[in-house]
Amino acid sequence: MTSPTYQLHHACIYEKNPRDAMWTWLRWYHGIPAYYWEGYADMHQTSEGGVDYTFLACGGPFQMQLEAGPYQFEYERQWFAEHDSGINHICWIVPDALATVDHLQQAGATVAMPYEEFGGTYNGFVAIDLEGRWIEIMEYVGGFKTPDVEFHPVGHVGLQTLGHVQLCRDLDDQVEWYSRVLGQRVILDSRSSNDGLVYLADDTYGVRECVTVLATPATEAERALVEQHGPCISTILYQAADVEQAWRDALAAGFSEVSAPAHDDRIGCRTGYVREPSGNLVQIRERLAA
Ligand SMILES: [Fe+2]
Repeated sequence: MTSPTYQLHHACIYEKNPRDAMWTWLRWYHGIPAYYWEGYADMHQTSEGGVDYTFLACGGPFQMQLEAGPYQFEYERQWFAEHDSGINHICWIVPDALATVDHLQQAGATVAMPYEEFGGTYNGFVAIDLEGRWIEIMEYVGGFKTPDVEFHPVGHVGLQTLGHVQLCRDLDDQVEWYSRVLGQRVILDSRSSNDGLVYLADDTYGVRECVTVLATPATEAERALVEQHGPCISTILYQAADVEQAWRDALAAGFSEVSAPAHDDRIGCRTGYVREPSGNLVQIRERLAA
């Protein structure tokens, strides 16, 4: 079997109050490319429940999905009971979701939610990577697609989503797995002795600028996350032309302060941190030149 291509798409936040929280994001340069309410029969009603999905985007292909309880499936409710409003999964688009089940399982991943066809919208399943983070796989069918926004910096601060950060137990091992199995390539490597971070991108990077950052915990907030949740999806990552103003604008929009922009030796630029409404980390860095 040939390896499927994996195209990074979104991070899913289990947000208790998405209809309120989305206002905070909207005040910080975001738009809503799609809002799927719980009444959509095909996509969001299963025998176990229904759900609201709000997709948020900001000048780039990587999007956020705010997902509200009670969640579609019991396995999701169990995860929420354990981890609360964490970032539940990263979603990848593939050409053939059913074939991808075997591909990921042969590479050591396990299946959290079996393959399912959601009417005329998408086929998909959820896997768990070797360190326990969730990977959603989606194959669009028919004409359905969660809309993209313009891939262009937004506002006078030039803000764009860039991707996400996953905190790892064994960094080298995870870089090898995401490279070999999901076909990602290294575009920035700041590791030594299995410590530090790596930026990975899929082969659409020239057109769709978004990255997966695999890292060991480096800040107090990151160490606390790993202590509580183990290896996890920790952070939504942004780039901005004006990091200082983008960070201040985030606070004015309702994000909470973690640390003001400061030089980060690992990536050679200034980067600041805030928390989004449900408490997950948001990192804003200077523009990525890679
Ligand atoms: Fe998702």
